[in-house]
Amino acid sequence: MGLFVTFEGIEGCGKTTQILLAADYLAKRGIPCLRTEEPGGTTLGRKLREMLLNRGPFIFYPETELLLFTAARAQHVREVILPALEEGKVVLCDRFADATLVYQGYARGLDIEAIRFLNAFVTNSLKPDLTILFDLPVEVGLNRARERIARLNLASREDRFEEEDLAFHKKIREGYLLLAHQEKDRFRVIDAAGSIANLQDTVRFHLDSALRE
Ligand SMILES: Nc1ncnc2c1ncn2[C@@H]1O[C@H](COP(=O)(O)OP(=O)(O)OP(=O)(O)O)[C@@H](O)[C@H]1O
Ligand SMILES: [Mg+2]
Repeated sequence: MGLFVTFEGIEGCGKTTQILLAADYLAKRGIPCLRTEEPGGTTLGRKLREMLLNRGPFIFYPETELLLFTAARAQHVREVILPALEEGKVVLCDRFADATLVYQGYARGLDIEAIRFLNAFVTNSLKPDLTILFDLPVEVGLNRARERIARLNLASREDRFEEEDLAFHKKIREGYLLLAHQEKDRFRVIDAAGSIANLQDTVRFHLDSALRE
């Protein structure tokens, strides 16, 4: 089996920036690697992503939102993640099951144990070997995310969650920190206020350590 690494954190903390650099780093070292993201990663998942992340005609009840995220995950795990792990690849995934626990659980208020059950069901109990959590004050993250969003056209902004209020994003941050505290072996928490280059050095350090284990 390969190595399954997830990148987590609030909006704008730098997950996508860092995962792209990490994939380049592994490729340069000749380590077979697959970079993917949630929601998404499959044709079906990308359709669901459009519905879930863009502001559109849909009104989601929290339960509906939860089931659509986890439906996309069921497809993603079977179609993309497990086959790549079975080929011995390092899979780098931009958000995964922890995001559902914090967004739909800690922030939206759905039952945490129900979400744990659903996550285990749709992933066939697959857990990341390593989860890198980029921790950042929400004001800083949202400013970064909004600057990025402002450069995009309306249809590709994926800003339905950025539009939530500050209290919502604070719950996301706290939820992630709680999960990291509960699963210290799996999580590595990085202070995401640093420069892109310094953060990437830390990401590489954690990746190298996990690859040696
Ligand atoms: N360490 C950093 N310092 C300053 N700006 C950064 C840093 N990392 C990323 N950025 C910038 O902040 C914006 C958001 O970064 P990025 O898209 O990587 O975050 P994200 O965590 O993937 O956000 P989202 O949750 O919205 O997908 C981008 O414009 C990016 O260039
Ligand atoms: Mg991103």
